[in-house]
Amino acid sequence: MRDQVRVVLYGVGAIGRMVAQHLLRRKGYIIVGAIDIDKEIIGRDLGNVVGIKATIGVEVTDMVDDLLGSVKADVVIHATSSYLKDTYPQIMRCINAGLNVVSTCEELSYPWLKYPELASKIDRAALEKDVTVLGTGINPGFLMDTLPIVLTAPCLRIDSVKVTRMMYSGDRRISYQKKIGTGLSKKEFEEKIKTKEITGHVGFFESIAQVASALGWSIEEIVELPPEPVIAERELKTTYLIVKPGQVAGLRSIAYGVVNGKKVITLEFISHAGIEEPYDEVIIEGEPTIKERIIGGIHGDIGTVAMIINIIPKVLAARPGLLTMKDIISISASLGDVRIHLPRARLY
Ligand SMILES: NC(=O)c1ccc[n+]([C@@H]2O[C@H](COP(=O)([O-])OP(=O)(O)OC[C@H]3O[C@@H](n4cnc5c(N)ncnc54)[C@H](OP(=O)(O)O)[C@@H]3O)[C@@H](O)[C@H]2O)c1
Repeated sequence: MRDQVRVVLYGVGAIGRMVAQHLLRRKGYIIVGAIDIDKEIIGRDLGNVVGIKATIGVEVTDMVDDLLGSVKADVVIHATSSYLKDTYPQIMRCINAGLNVVSTCEELSYPWLKYPELASKIDRAALEKDVTVLGTGINPGFLMDTLPIVLTAPCLRIDSVKVTRMMYSGDRRISYQKKIGTGLSKKEFEEKIKTKEITGHVGFFESIAQVASALGWSIEEIVELPPEPVIAERELKTTYLIVKPGQVAGLRSIAYGVVNGKKVITLEFISHAGIEEPYDEVIIEGEPTIKERIIGGIHGDIGTVAMIINIIPKVLAARPGLLTMKDIISISASLGDVRIHLPRARLY
C-alpha cells in the first residue's frame, strides 16, 4: 500500500484552488508542490492562497523546472488553459520529470483528431517515461462524452446521439461567467467572440471526436456554429455580477458530427444566468432508444473538481501513455468493424 498520493498542482486558479481545498480534506493525499505564474500568489503558502487558516509548508512557485526536478510526486493536477498549444510544453515538462498528469485542458481530452502530431509526441514521451496523461473534467470529460458513451452500451443500433446541457451559470466561478459573456452588450459579445477574447464552451470538437471513436464511427466532419448570445429579459443577479435587461445573460452553442453525410452526433450547450430548470440530457435514437435526463443538471465546478480527484487512483493504476476517458471506462456500443478494435493475437 502507498503511504500517501503525492500531488503537485500546476495552475492555482479557480479550479486548482478548489481541488486543493478538497484534497487537503481527503485521506491519503498530500500536496507537495504548487506552480502558477500569477504574481499575486507566487511565494505565498498554498494554505493561505486557498483560504484555510493553517500554512501547509508549500509555497506557490513559478520556477517550474526547479520544482519538478526536485519534488517527489506521483501526479500533477494541471489546470492552466483550455488550449493544447499553450499546455503542450507544460505537460511535456511534467512527463519529462516522470510524473503522471491529470489535466483540465479541454483540447487534451481527445487531441488525436485536431492535433495528431502533438498527441503522438505526448503519447510517446509518456510511454518512454512510464507515466499516464489524461485530459478530463465535467465537460469535456464526462457529460458530453463519457456519459453518452456509457449509455450506448446496451444499444444494438444507433441512428443518432444528442446531448443537451441546459446550465444555470449564475453560481459558476467568475472566469466561467466571463467566458460566456455575462453582462456584456450584444455588440460587445459579438466582437469578443470574433476576436476570441471570450470563447464560450471549449470541447465540442473533442467530445464529438471521442464519442465517434468509441462507437467505431468514422467521422467526416465536425461543425461548431458560432455561439449566440442569450439576452436577459429581466434583471438577473449572479454570485459576481448584475445583468440588466437587454444585456447578455449567457450563450447558446451547437455543434454536430457528420457520418455518411448525416448529422449523427449533436451537442447543444445553453448556459445563462436566467435558466430556471437546468438539466443535462442524453438522447440516443436507435435500438433501443435511450433517453436520460439529470434533473437540476450537474454543477460544472463541483463536477470538474470531483472528476479530477476521483480519477486520480484510476490514472495511477492505468497503463502508461496518453489516455482519453474512453480508455478508462471501456464500455460502450461498438458499431464499427470489430476486427479493428481487437489485438491480432485474440482473433483465431
Ligand atoms: N474540462 C472541463 O470540464 C473543465 C472544467 C473547468 C475548467 N476547465 C479549464 O481549466 C482551465 C483552468 O480553469 P480555471 O477556472 O481554474 O482558470 P483560471 O482561474 O484562469 O486559473 C488558471 C491559473 O493558471 C495560471 N496559469 C496560466 N498559464 C500558466 C502557466 N503557463 N504556468 C503556470 N500557471 C499558469 C493562471 O495564472 P494567470 O491568472 O496569471 O494567467 C491562473 O492562476 C481553464 O482553461 C478552463 O477552461 C476545464
